[in-house]
Amino acid sequence: MQDKINQYIAEVEAFVAEKSQDAENFRIKYLGRKGLLNDLFEEFKTVSNEQKRVLGQELNKLKTVVQTKLDELQKSHSNSSVKSEKSDLTRPSGAIPLGSRHPLSIVRGEILDIFSRIGFTVADGPEIEDDWHVFSGLNFPPEHPARDMQDTFFIEKGDNEGKQEMVLRTHTSSVQVRAMENQKPPLRIVMPGRVFRNEAVSARAHCQFHQIEGLYIDEGVSFADMKQTLSYFTQEFFGKAKIRLRPSYFPFTEPSAEMDVYWGLNSEADYRITKGTGWLEIMGCGMVDPAVLSASGIDPQKYSGFAFGMGIERITMLRYQIDDLRMFFENDVRFLRQFTN
Ligand code: PHE
Repeated sequence: MQDKINQYIAEVEAFVAEKSQDAENFRIKYLGRKGLLNDLFEEFKTVSNEQKRVLGQELNKLKTVVQTKLDELQKSHSNSSVKSEKSDLTRPSGAIPLGSRHPLSIVRGEILDIFSRIGFTVADGPEIEDDWHVFSGLNFPPEHPARDMQDTFFIEKGDNEGKQEMVLRTHTSSVQVRAMENQKPPLRIVMPGRVFRNEAVSARAHCQFHQIEGLYIDEGVSFADMKQTLSYFTQEFFGKAKIRLRPSYFPFTEPSAEMDVYWGLNSEADYRITKGTGWLEIMGCGMVDPAVLSASGIDPQKYSGFAFGMGIERITMLRYQIDDLRMFFENDVRFLRQFTN
């Protein structure tokens, strides 16, 4: 018995736990109901009283050594589990990933900023609009052929029976009409917003897109003022100041023009996006038709003004060399993440 006790004490003292499970196995081996200590205590019952005095002490010593070791094992095991389960509160936090602005929002913000520096304020209006604000108030009544240029989505009349037809606005020019009805000149506003057209979706066209409209009305506003304002804009936004105004037609402006920016032909990409001409069409514009001013209660004898409208998608595609319009509306984070600041 004495030999066994000495051997166990040596084993116990040398024991090291490798896995957290080892502490429990250790306990079962020595202190379990069928463990080594119980065996020894059984054997102890059979020895003489004289031997009991010596062996009793030895047995108690073994028991203490086992218990001490077990406490130690359990303590270090629970320490390691503390480490793995609780976080270190003094550790610096990881960065929280920020989202990114949508490229259309970035470009819209820049454009509005450029115009705000020369005194334009921002206005907006509803996307679901009545016929007057989208068409008739802009000088193209129902029978007018110019309506064919802007097919849109019509809202079923329902309760609106007998009242005006409601449509998804085809351009932000509707906001011009609202502004002219509600404010007295001088008016100097930019109007961003989403517009809709009944068009097949492709890389170049979509049934929804965004525009920024501009309107400037005051006494004595001339075509030269418009040209200077648009030239300022292209200089600020594209860093290119050379523009040209090509005669065009809109029912609500007279004269009307398409404004092109001279993009240059320095690279192969320049040839591709300008179709070899060096010029890029950026927006429609013109002097507000006197009929539009009178329809909104502004005296065309006293006031004149200019208006312009540009597509934000088109400008954003130029800026970031995006070649498919559909990317803007697909919410693909692989695309959107590229615009993180
Ligand atoms: N509303 C026109 C369009 O969507 C653009 C435009 C705006 C033209 C203002 C002239 C003046 O095509």
